[in-house]
Amino acid sequence: MPPAPTPHPGLVELEFGVPIPGMVVDESLWARTALKRLPEGLWNWDELFGRSAPVVIDIGCGNGRSTLHLAVNHPEWNVLGVDILPVVIRYATRRANQRGLTHARLAVVGGRELLERHVLPSSVTELHCYHPQPFYDRRDVGRRLITPEFLSLAHRALVPGGRLVLQTDNPGYWKYISRVVPTFFDWHEQPGPWHDSPQGRTRREIMAHSKGLPIFRGWGVARGGLSWDEALAQARQLPPPTFDADRRLQALDQLERDTGESPATGPRPSAKHPPRHPSSKPPRRRR
Ligand SMILES: C[S@@+](CC[C@H](N)C(=O)[O-])C[C@H]1O[C@@H](n2cnc3c(N)ncnc32)[C@H](O)[C@@H]1O
Repeated sequence: MPPAPTPHPGLVELEFGVPIPGMVVDESLWARTALKRLPEGLWNWDELFGRSAPVVIDIGCGNGRSTLHLAVNHPEWNVLGVDILPVVIRYATRRANQRGLTHARLAVVGGRELLERHVLPSSVTELHCYHPQPFYDRRDVGRRLITPEFLSLAHRALVPGGRLVLQTDNPGYWKYISRVVPTFFDWHEQPGPWHDSPQGRTRREIMAHSKGLPIFRGWGVARGGLSWDEALAQARQLPPPTFDADRRLQALDQLERDTGESPATGPRPSAKHPPRHPSSKPPRRRR
């Protein structure tokens, strides 16, 4: 990414003509929001944010528009945005820093790994996931984020009464989500745009909207009285996300790439080159 010119205080940036949440503050007030070295094991939120507050996580945050939205509108929350792509996290971090969002953190880590390895059960107030990649090729079906197991991990991460927010522009993904999410969450479809962001909470949402594509939004409250063991058992009964994502919808992904700050899909993991968890150490050299 070429070095960006230092923006002047008071600047409101536009993306596709829609203001990016927040405003650039004086450089003396810039924050340090990058989580460069991911702690091993379970994360201590109070240490990570330097204060105690409800934790809200944005998984697959892309260029961070939705993470900024959450942090700007909720100074009372600790907001973590994560994505597997370093380049998009750099955009998100730069903007969070320049807006002085001391209660935001950005990290390169997969959503599933985060929930499985680093999040203490019942420690998160809200989990947001906007436009998870549908992955059109049948060989990539295993890379889809929203699976029954992911949902059981999300349920485990949330405090009693905690909320999961999901959104997609892919009808196949939405049909699948509507089928499996109610097992773990009291599920509600959101008719129309979120009231706090009529033009869209995320970059992908704004792009899909400009192309006249339908956008599917929903939120759920974690079901009470569902233990981790029960949630796992339920997850095993549910179908995996093998839906047809409809290749004709790939055009929007291409447009995302062509217009910068894009989540270009990385190479497909293979047996020879398995996916490396971003927080894991590089393999040791053989002597
Ligand atoms: C279609 S983009 C949507 C980005 C953003 N949420 C938006 O709505 O504009 C999907 C994002 O999810 C990220 N992603 C894909 N798999 C992921 C995973 N397992 N964990 C976290 N992020 C993931 C991609 O790198 C990409 O930035």
